[in-house]
Amino acid sequence: MGGLSALLTRRSTAMAVLLVFFLSGASPAADTPSEEETAIAMSLAAMLRAARTVVSLNQDRINDPAIGDKGLDGKTLLAAAVPLYQEATGVDPLSIDPQSRHGRLLRAQMDAIAEVVDEHQPTLNQQGVGFKGFIPSTFGRLVNEAFGKRMGGEAEMKVTAPQELIRNRKARPDAWESEVIRTKLRAPDWPRGQFYSAVTTTKGRPAFRLAAPEYYGESCLSCHGEPKGEIDLTGYPKEGAKEGDLGGVLTVTLYR
Ligand code: HEC
Repeated sequence: MGGLSALLTRRSTAMAVLLVFFLSGASPAADTPSEEETAIAMSLAAMLRAARTVVSLNQDRINDPAIGDKGLDGKTLLAAAVPLYQEATGVDPLSIDPQSRHGRLLRAQMDAIAEVVDEHQPTLNQQGVGFKGFIPSTFGRLVNEAFGKRMGGEAEMKVTAPQELIRNRKARPDAWESEVIRTKLRAPDWPRGQFYSAVTTTKGRPAFRLAAPEYYGESCLSCHGEPKGEIDLTGYPKEGAKEGDLGGVLTVTLYR
């Protein structure tokens, strides 16, 4: 009998400790974004932004009907993106251990970037055609799709937007993204530029998710600006946005 009651006491002590743990609001690590996940997501976001910037910097050349070969293949674009990434993060992306999860994901993303640029060489190098539809927004979506394919359900990236701004159906926000846009990124007191992250169930699996806001700059307004409804260069009606408005949200999902 003594043995049993001692056991029961030990059990109830364990229960009490557990209860205090839950009641105190301490969240077990399983529900909390880890520092490593946050660092990986920020790194992938920085690389996507760097690559899009290279497309943007080359936009006039890409759109020039007089030039045939633009000399902008996957390798060249990546070589230009690396210093931009390094400027933004303070880290040389090639110094990140390829055996680590971070290094593996970043290299897969860089391969996806090169793949998209190389696939589009016939479009890019077409002579006699001005606007070719190869713009940072579209390029970013294609890179994210190629990355998702490479990662086979381990990681995903997306650039989405508030529902009423969505142009491409593939960019529509899912339930979590909509909720984060409404309750966090668009909240009046949300710090400008601040990302939001959480561990949540996505497609039935536990996943770390990060959402980083993107705001319209001057260069976006020829397509997304005023007057609202006017058809832009790409054939879409303009959103009537103003500089500084929340234009999109870059999300990174890392399945656990
Ligand atoms: C030349 C016109 C043009 C410019 C300039 C432009 N965009 Fe876009 N944007 C588009 C098009 C077209 C799409 C749809 C791309 C696709 O096929 O996925 C798009 C898509 C997007 C999306 C994804 C959601 C959606 O609606 O499909 C976001 C976010 C976005 N743009 C933000 C920006 C921001 C921020 C800038 C400036 C840094 C910018 N865009 C500059 C034309 C443009």
